[in-house]
Amino acid sequence: MSDLAFAVLRTLADGRFHSGEAMAQALGCSRTLVWQAVHHLENEFGLTIFSVRGQGYRLPQPFALLDVPAIRHQLGEDAANVFTLALADEIDSSNTQLTTRAAQGAPHGLVLAAERQTAGRGRLGRRWQMQLGAGLTFSVLWRFDRGLSGLAGLSLVVGIALVRALRQFGAPVTLKWPNDVLLDGRKLAGILIELSGDALGSAAVVIGIGLNLSAPGDVDQPVANLADAGIKVGRNVLLGTLLNQLAPLLSQFDREGFAAFRDEWHGMAAYLAQPVRLNFSHGEPVEGIAVGVDDNGALLVDTAAGRRVFHVGEVSLRAS
Ligand code: BTN
Repeated sequence: MSDLAFAVLRTLADGRFHSGEAMAQALGCSRTLVWQAVHHLENEFGLTIFSVRGQGYRLPQPFALLDVPAIRHQLGEDAANVFTLALADEIDSSNTQLTTRAAQGAPHGLVLAAERQTAGRGRLGRRWQMQLGAGLTFSVLWRFDRGLSGLAGLSLVVGIALVRALRQFGAPVTLKWPNDVLLDGRKLAGILIELSGDALGSAAVVIGIGLNLSAPGDVDQPVANLADAGIKVGRNVLLGTLLNQLAPLLSQFDREGFAAFRDEWHGMAAYLAQPVRLNFSHGEPVEGIAVGVDDNGALLVDTAAGRRVFHVGEVSLRAS
């Protein structure tokens, strides 16, 4: 039913009335199936659809679906040369799909953006859910030459790319270690990086990004979205802008590692010189003052027992 629901959504996307009969004819199915697809859009996808006798169905406003030419139109030379764009209406998770495709030899720079994820994943085993059309969910496959051990700090660099892009639209965003993007202190975007490869040789990395544009995803902490901050930007424009920032930063990271980005990360960081609490999946939390990150992107915290170093992993940070 999801396939037909997306076909109906494509018709309704212009925000005008379309009769069930005309849609049934165009889509080669019965009016009953169109009616079921409309219900699917409402009940499963959370969309509002007006239904008026004699006129048909319409959305409250036009709906801009993800569109490869529209995204490509935004890309500068760097990004256009390196990224291959792929879109999916509904998949389990763009990270899961790209990880599978990476193992099957998918090319460096493949980007997969999904309208809807049925099993979107966040860090530390959490779920990542987003209402249809309310944000961006996409993943990038990047093949690095620096080996798995040289990838420490990558997630922080991806955070820098997101902040650079979002600040172009006037969003006063900051970064929370290791890689949440915050707007007014609340989570606007998250990054899930998954690695496979050799300790020293080449590594295939799937970089998954979820970003709220108009309604929060389902996360376990206060969330933000761009619309509430008065920032209106289309999803295709935003995705293109993010990719423009990611292309040169990922290349530079491959050549130079995190040390080259450390100062810029400090300039974007929330909670620097502030009391924080680190929670672990196992063991007691640690409290202290966040003083910065080292050349590998590890967090430095001054605790009562002295300075401690925390690596990206099973750690989550909160202001305390
Ligand atoms: C987090 O903050 O916990 C990370 C969230 C990452 C979510 C994105 S959405 C696109 C990609 N596919 C997934 O299943 N997860 C990432």
